[in-house]
Amino acid sequence: MINAKKLLAIAIISTISATVATAASNEALIKEGRKVFVTKKLGNCLACHTVQGDPNIPQAGDIGPKLSNLDTYPKDYLFNKIWDPNKTNPNTVMPAMGRGHRITKQQIDALIAYLQATTKTK
Ligand code: HEC
Repeated sequence: MINAKKLLAIAIISTISATVATAASNEALIKEGRKVFVTKKLGNCLACHTVQGDPNIPQAGDIGPKLSNLDTYPKDYLFNKIWDPNKTNPNTVMPAMGRGHRITKQQIDALIAYLQATTKTK
């Protein structure tokens, strides 16, 4: 028969392994997001933005603002901004990458994971 101590041990072990799995998949998402950001045929975000906390992006442009402290922005604000920036700013020069089918919803989620992790104020 399983006693209370064994049950507790099983619960702790499964919580730990779930946490480790989440951290690993988050790392993968951040990596994917950076790839979308710097790849011209994907997000091409580097054409206009530099990123606080990631000074090694080659040939990053300055048409858009330097992206910083995005960990303090709500995720849905960032999603909408990347999906279709015209919604919040009809005069923006930023292209509607999501609505224009240049990148997928999953790629936008990856971009948000990368940007929020990288621009975090320490
Ligand atoms: C052609 C230039 C251009 C490209 C390409 C571009 N942006 Fe922008 N972006 C801008 C400009 C200009 C603004 C400021 C005006 C506005 O908010 O619409 C901006 C604003 C933003 C903001 C809001 C920043 C803040 O502090 O409020 C985010 C986030 C952002 N861009 C992310 C991205 C991401 C991610 C990509 C790639 C998918 C991208 N941008 C591609 C020009 C661009």
